[in-house]
Amino acid sequence: MSMELEKFVDSLPIMNKLKPKERNSKGAYYEVTMNEFKQKLHRDLPPTQLWGYNSQFPGPTIEVDRGEYAKVLWKNNLPSKHFLPVDKSFHHLEHLPEVRTVTHLHGGETPPGSDGFPEAWFTKDFSEVGDSFERKVYEYPNNQRGATLWYHDHAMGITRLNVYAGLAGTYIIRDQEEKRLKLPSGAYDIPLMIQDRTFNEDGSLFYPNQPNNPAENLPNPSVTPFFLGDTILVNGKVWPFLEVEPRKYRFRIVNGSNTRAYQLQLDSGQEFYQIGSDGGLLSKTVTVDTLSIEPAERMDVIIDFSGLSGQTIHLKNDLGPNPDPDDQTGDVMQFRVNKPLSEKDMSRIPRSLSTIPSLKNEQITGIRNLKLVGTTDSYGRTLLLLDNKKWMDPVSEKPLLNSTEIWSLINVTNFSHPIHIHLVQFQILDRRPFDLERYNQDGQIIYTGPARPPLPNESGWKDTVTATPGEITRLIIRFAPFSGHYVWHCHILEHEDYDMMRPFIVIDPKDEDKSFGDS
Ligand code: C2O
Ligand code: CU
Ligand code: CU
Repeated sequence: MSMELEKFVDSLPIMNKLKPKERNSKGAYYEVTMNEFKQKLHRDLPPTQLWGYNSQFPGPTIEVDRGEYAKVLWKNNLPSKHFLPVDKSFHHLEHLPEVRTVTHLHGGETPPGSDGFPEAWFTKDFSEVGDSFERKVYEYPNNQRGATLWYHDHAMGITRLNVYAGLAGTYIIRDQEEKRLKLPSGAYDIPLMIQDRTFNEDGSLFYPNQPNNPAENLPNPSVTPFFLGDTILVNGKVWPFLEVEPRKYRFRIVNGSNTRAYQLQLDSGQEFYQIGSDGGLLSKTVTVDTLSIEPAERMDVIIDFSGLSGQTIHLKNDLGPNPDPDDQTGDVMQFRVNKPLSEKDMSRIPRSLSTIPSLKNEQITGIRNLKLVGTTDSYGRTLLLLDNKKWMDPVSEKPLLNSTEIWSLINVTNFSHPIHIHLVQFQILDRRPFDLERYNQDGQIIYTGPARPPLPNESGWKDTVTATPGEITRLIIRFAPFSGHYVWHCHILEHEDYDMMRPFIVIDPKDEDKSFGDS
């Protein structure tokens, strides 16, 4: 689809930091407007029509200190027609306004009315709102440890299109614990939002109307079961380069892609020093040569360029054995170690980073077995479900506030699903393989090996976990600090939209009589 675009001809954009409208001892107040605009994504591409927060793609970086209360007015100033193909054949979407938005802070411990519930959408100037809409100004307590979060659109049934159009940005919480560690900071602490896109000849974004080889009588447009772009962008530029000094840098890597997972490597053979995962610092620095990062996961890493003056290093995406020679997605970006060292590098790569209390020590009050399943709908399209239930089915997961549960994600499909749970940071207990063929014959789970503990770099706080195919992935989750309506879902956005997303309700026993109905 895309024309050949020369790699490494544009420098990496560093997103600007969002300035609050007001800031006082109680916190900060921000306003962000979603707009349609054009932006140059590559030297040789005409400007691309996009949707973004404050007319930029990705959106501005929001930075707060832990404990600093932030309020954000998310405003929708978008046109009433979508520029990407909207399928209205499911969830009664034909009755909803075509363009609707609601912002979610991914990884945030956010009160329910501000979490971006998919049915809390709103249109331009809030002229129409979804059934669950509660408030215009969202409130973020930021009472969680320092971490790299991200914000993105979450509107019912069109999240894949709104995020693809450009509605995503980085959100950083900083804390004292981290500051004491003397990690690379300031200009040497850089978010990298990695996304894949496909372009039409005129520079516009391509998104398929229908799956490949569509069945007859399929609605047009029709949701596709996955989407992989053929071009990689970092911070909104196609295959950019970054000029660096011979010193240590901290990169906060966010996989903001719809479906694509990456196996990131450095072609210098260097290792990454991973210091953080979704929910903040790991307990110890983990040295890895490959970062496997699924959609919505974050990996906070240090790369040490010291002693490498004059070298050019590439961040690659390992495509595995015998990749398609036309596949260009094995390249991500380039580092040019060509800047002089501006001052002595006093930053450190501490061996020990933080203390992470194990949730294993808590009393477990519930165990849920939840299947990740694939089936087909009445058109013969792929329909992916959580525990065989659709979004519209009654709420089945109702953990109690402050209780700790084990969720066993039983993946009976043939591929990995990055499963994300709102409100919480959880821990991965283990993964255990079972006989998938046998399961498909008679529904029995027969283990074929022992349970494996999580990898060292996923042993900290996580909000998104790779549920591997033919395995049971077990999580320990403490449901706090808020009660109310939330969602959990696969973060492959094509899956999330149709229909791998479910509501859950955290129940506060004190509110028992307030009706938390199954709606
Ligand atoms: Cu990143 Cu429910 O989302
Ligand atoms: Cu989230
Ligand atoms: Cu999925």
